[in-house]
Amino acid sequence: MTGLPPDAEVLGEPVDRIDGRPKVTGGARYPSDVHYPGMAYAALVQSAVAAGTIRRIETAEALAAPGVLAVLTHENAPPLADGPASLLGPPPRYPLRDARVVHHGQHVAVVVADTAERARTAARLVRVAYEEDAPRLDLEDPGAAVTVDPYGTDSERGDVPAALAAADVVHDETFRTAPVSHCPIGPFATVARWADGRLVVHDATQWPMLARTVFATMFSVPEEHVRVLVPYLGGGFGAGLRTSPHSVLTVLAARELGRPVKLVLTRPQMFTSIGHRPPTVQRIALGATRDGRLLALHHEGTATTGAEEFNAEPITSGTAAAYACPNVVTRDRLVALNLPNPAAMRAPGHTEGSFALESAMDELSSVLGVDPLELRLRNLAEVHPPSGLPWSSNGLRACYEAGAERFGWRDRDPMPRATRDGEWLVGQGMAGSTYAWWSAPCRAAVAVARDGTAVVRSAATDIGTGTYTIGAQVAAELLGLGVDRVRVEIGDTDLPPAPQSGGSGLAVAFTGAIEEAVHQVLARFMRMVRDDPHSPLRGRRYDEVVAADGCLRLAGDPSVGESYGEILGRHGLDDVTATGECDPRSPQEGADVVRAGAFAAQFAEVRVHERLGVVRVSRVVSAVDAGRVLNPTTARGQIAGAVVMALGMALFEETGFDPRLGRVTNATLADYLVPVHADVPDIDVLFVGRPDPLAPLGAKGLGELGLTATPAAVANAVFHATGVRPRALPIRL
Ligand code: MOS
Repeated sequence: MTGLPPDAEVLGEPVDRIDGRPKVTGGARYPSDVHYPGMAYAALVQSAVAAGTIRRIETAEALAAPGVLAVLTHENAPPLADGPASLLGPPPRYPLRDARVVHHGQHVAVVVADTAERARTAARLVRVAYEEDAPRLDLEDPGAAVTVDPYGTDSERGDVPAALAAADVVHDETFRTAPVSHCPIGPFATVARWADGRLVVHDATQWPMLARTVFATMFSVPEEHVRVLVPYLGGGFGAGLRTSPHSVLTVLAARELGRPVKLVLTRPQMFTSIGHRPPTVQRIALGATRDGRLLALHHEGTATTGAEEFNAEPITSGTAAAYACPNVVTRDRLVALNLPNPAAMRAPGHTEGSFALESAMDELSSVLGVDPLELRLRNLAEVHPPSGLPWSSNGLRACYEAGAERFGWRDRDPMPRATRDGEWLVGQGMAGSTYAWWSAPCRAAVAVARDGTAVVRSAATDIGTGTYTIGAQVAAELLGLGVDRVRVEIGDTDLPPAPQSGGSGLAVAFTGAIEEAVHQVLARFMRMVRDDPHSPLRGRRYDEVVAADGCLRLAGDPSVGESYGEILGRHGLDDVTATGECDPRSPQEGADVVRAGAFAAQFAEVRVHERLGVVRVSRVVSAVDAGRVLNPTTARGQIAGAVVMALGMALFEETGFDPRLGRVTNATLADYLVPVHADVPDIDVLFVGRPDPLAPLGAKGLGELGLTATPAAVANAVFHATGVRPRALPIRL
């Protein structure tokens, strides 16, 4: 009994979120809901300049305010150890290290009081005098420090200059994308409590295991003495991957005061304290034959990072694998500015890069007079272009074909500005996406109890993606139980270690670990009955039985079998537990195929008011190859949600940084425009893939996929509607 039964009953079904009821009834405990007796509350004091040195920081007035317990500044905060390097790069500067200020909004003090209101009031009484330096705030500031090839991902194949010289058509353009903010609905919060040298932190993190390592390292305590809890998180989108300075300050305050401390970021602080998607400027040169075969592709991208900080924003990393083009150069650069450090945001880098690449492809199609979809099909990467090896699975052609069919692409008049509906110009655009997911080893424990219920346990967290639900589904499917018989306990670093909820990778690794754990549990049940004279399954082998209806039954004769509870009862056991591990990366090594990511084709229709310039998106079709779809409801939610986020990036969203002060000018949800219901059209999501043979359970990560390509599809539709080419996001009136 290995692998999934071909007639899976629970996995692949549109099971409702098992965390839905606790979330909508208030039973789900988010980090900000945690309360301890004697808990104190922290409030942040943030820098009012973008660069310089603190000359004087006066805390007497704040300290004298009612209820204030402490004010920590760089003058009295003890030094910490540097944090660890991670997938996210070298460790960030720890807070309150010294008098230097490197961005507006940097935390320069933390005030702790007996209530949150008193802490916030007193925080306003801290007076800071600065010696200001001239800040660097512009991505194209020639004096800013530049890192070349910051992620080691720059690539080159063939001879691009020669191929561009030989091409029939060359198209060379510059594209720009604006900074945008994650805006998770749940304010990030940290509650820290030290007791007997052990630390418990309730933290809004997408990566509890990394948070544990960060706290253990910075506060010089063993990792086993740190427990990070995040059973529920109100969204993250990448902002919760890094352990941000406010979390470290909360842990520090709790240690200094010797009592539990809570810090909840205000909405404006959510714009300055947890990162944003940085702005980019990109150049793309395409060379092609007259009939639309790509000969050369040159893609350079520059993103920003915080001064003396690092953020991975690999803009061009998807370009080398996107098309069957013999000559490709990709280059990334990182420019350090006196702005808050950016953070990974849902398909970091790739989203901005795909806007430029897929817009450039649309421009090329228009120069050549080749249909945009046809141009992509002519250059489809039938094999993985950088290696020349076959993909483990690739449904991109099917995405294009099924999406075009559903959208009615072939009915489109190819002429720009040719279709109108009254005063509205109507246009259709499309774009394609080849997206790798990033995964790491994951463990999960599965226990089956005498009452016929099961529990899945792992340090993974659910940022709203459906992790709880697919975990229950996989265990239920493989154990032959109803989903309601499976409990999922996650978001706790005392449970088996798990990687980040990010990079579209958790679902694959987490469900693979559950699958392995279930197999071990079932193998133990079979060892228990092997020599058991009372068991109808005595002498049977593992591969002769199936799990169904809470029982193990003979595959050939389902009338022969018994329940988990009967076996456990006879053996005097309360439960059987096993821990499984999955490393989704391992099958690729030495293999003669390349592990494929997910693929998508996005089709968008826009209506642009001819006189007012208003852009409305009227339809989106997303055709997606994500391998085996574990749950079509949560999978559709991921794609549709990402499409909405992409519409925001395409049309509305821009984190405003004052060009002289580096201050965020629109740090509220009234001023920072995200799509609202009236902005969101019908989004039609269709899944066309087949299970990927290299992926555990055949699933490929899709949490970020709906975001790549979609801004380009909208921009290409705007071009088709108006004849005007948008080369910068967001697209304004
Ligand atoms: Mo995301 S940037 O994969 O959390």
